[in-house]
Amino acid sequence: MANLDHLITEAQADFAACQTTTALEDAKAKYLGKTGAITEALKGLGRLSTEERPAAGAAINVVKKQVEAALNARRDALLDAAQAAQLASESLDVTLPARAQGQGGLHPVSLTLRRIEQLFHSIGFDVATGPEIETDFYNFTALNIPENHPARAMHDTFYVDDAHVLRTHTSPVQVHYMENALKENKTPPFKIIAPGRVYRVDSDATHSPMFHQVEGLWVDQAISFANLKGVVQDFLQKYFERDDIKVRFRPSFFPFTEPSAEMDMSWNDGWLEIGGCGMVHPEVFRHVNVDSEQYQGFAFGLGVERLAMLRYGVNDLRHFFNNDLRFLSQFSK
Ligand code: FA5
Repeated sequence: MANLDHLITEAQADFAACQTTTALEDAKAKYLGKTGAITEALKGLGRLSTEERPAAGAAINVVKKQVEAALNARRDALLDAAQAAQLASESLDVTLPARAQGQGGLHPVSLTLRRIEQLFHSIGFDVATGPEIETDFYNFTALNIPENHPARAMHDTFYVDDAHVLRTHTSPVQVHYMENALKENKTPPFKIIAPGRVYRVDSDATHSPMFHQVEGLWVDQAISFANLKGVVQDFLQKYFERDDIKVRFRPSFFPFTEPSAEMDMSWNDGWLEIGGCGMVHPEVFRHVNVDSEQYQGFAFGLGVERLAMLRYGVNDLRHFFNNDLRFLSQFSK
């Protein structure tokens, strides 16, 4: 019987040339398929004599084993290579920087409110609050703005129903605070600020339908406009970190103060209006049972957005409420 050893090297070369498992299975047929060289050799054993057959059979089996081993080795190599290629193409680069966690921050108006509260707290003012949905009584009547009074039209009011409004200013907190204090048998001095949201039908670059005010109230036995001027000027100088800021009062009208004034502060060679103020009107004291013969007080209301705009150099108040992160993120350092 012919020597079949050459089949081993041939098969090894054929298998090595195969680049895919499909090609490899085709190449296998040439040796181990139904009509493959080794299969044919095994079939030929039947033509040999009984004496020759065992040795010839053993020789063919050695070749068959070697070819099978070459086939398996090549198959494994091809599968490994395919898997390596897949891993490479689908790999994750764990050295990439992690996706940034969005860092939150306080809104510029909140930062401004905190700063205002801190500064007033440092000169002995407590913080008081009141409801944003207010009765007609607290928003107007108790502040000496009776029904049909033209001053109601000065505030472009959002009505919730006939008896309730979204408060148009923080001044009603004056009334709530004094009422509650007297209920608890507390008597003046009353020294509070009341920061919070207020609402008006109003919208342009310097007016927003929702904005913030800080009310100030100091009631005692000998409080005057001089105290008011001192407190406000001191506050503004600290708030803007500038000693040269001055305060000017312009006569004005508010039904709940008498006399009343608009407060302006000096800014870049000019004056800017920052709020209203005055001495608490005896009619307001009457509503909360404070004896206006014995006590006087000043009150003021500052526009918070205006202070924020000046401090941060923002020229349009609406930026604060458009929720554009490019604007807001500048404040969350
Ligand atoms: C008042 O609201 C009075 N309650 C202030 C007051 C309090 C006077 C205590 C006397 C005693 P006025 O309507 O002027 O006043 O508003 C005060 C400030 O709020 C204004 O100077 C301005 O800075 C700010 N402001 C008013 N309307 C708007 C608005 N639509 N958007 C933003 N800020 C506003």
